[in-house]
Amino acid sequence: MLLQDKSAIVTGAGSGVGRASALRFAAEGARVVCADIDADAAKQTADLIETAGGTAVPAAADVSREDQVQGMIETAAGQFGRLDILFNNVGVPTPRLGAKLEDHTLEDFQRLVAVNFGGVFFGCKHAVLRFKQQGGGGVILNTGSVAGLVAWGGSVYGATKGAVHQLTRAVAIEGAPFGIRANALCPAGMPYTGFMAAGGLTLADPAHLAAAAEKVGAAHPLGRPITAEDCAEAAVFLVSDRAANITGVLLPVDGGYVAK
Ligand SMILES: NC(=O)c1ccc[n+]([C@@H]2O[C@H](COP(=O)([O-])OP(=O)(O)OC[C@H]3O[C@@H](n4cnc5c(N)ncnc54)[C@H](O)[C@@H]3O)[C@@H](O)[C@H]2O)c1
Repeated sequence: MLLQDKSAIVTGAGSGVGRASALRFAAEGARVVCADIDADAAKQTADLIETAGGTAVPAAADVSREDQVQGMIETAAGQFGRLDILFNNVGVPTPRLGAKLEDHTLEDFQRLVAVNFGGVFFGCKHAVLRFKQQGGGGVILNTGSVAGLVAWGGSVYGATKGAVHQLTRAVAIEGAPFGIRANALCPAGMPYTGFMAAGGLTLADPAHLAAAAEKVGAAHPLGRPITAEDCAEAAVFLVSDRAANITGVLLPVDGGYVAK
């Protein structure tokens, strides 16, 4: 039980990496606020945790809205007495798969920046304020991407993830004197989450999905696509006390993609 009695928030908990991480955090003993813009999906995750004997509450929150991020943090403090861990996991993809820089509209640009960078900024800001008010430190984990380490996955999307990486390092350094750690996960292609569909790729056909997964996996030296569960395992470690002396790290979960 690596997270026994910790109070945690996972954003984007209604699907993919967020759902897998919320379930893993709860299985390790954390009490979890499952936050998502999709209130029904957040509730489904919280229900899955409760059914498995864990403790969770759903929270509807759009992370691009500062007041809603504050509300989500207040929910954790109100329900569980304090906040120990914030996993800023939400990210939205390039709106049309394969879109080049010049294909992005102002609206596309503003949405990617507002959700992917703005959401992590608001999360870090209000978690740091809460951690300092409570005392005793705290842990932030952000979901970056391989797309923020190398040019892959869309120019504007990748730039927002590069911003998340830099913010993570800065929060780690500013937070260190207060016992606040901040790290980032940098996943490579995960065909089985809702992300690809959100980017306009329809994978409802199982044969099509299998072909897409094989193609993504073939790009990774370890030969298989990344799963939400791969990310959840890394997340549990980074937010736990086993990583007590690890901060400012950008951890690729990429089957060796960046090393190639
Ligand atoms: N899937 C991939 O190939 C891939 C690769 C690298 C990095 N990532 C990153 O991993 C993270 C998780 O992605 P996933 O693959 O699990 O995606 P997903 O689409 O399965 O899940 C994302 C969740 O975020 C929620 N969400 C979207 N906008 C929101 C908002 N404004 N406020 C609150 N919730 C919101 C959605 O409702 C959904 O439940 C993202 O940051 C993404 O950028 C994904």
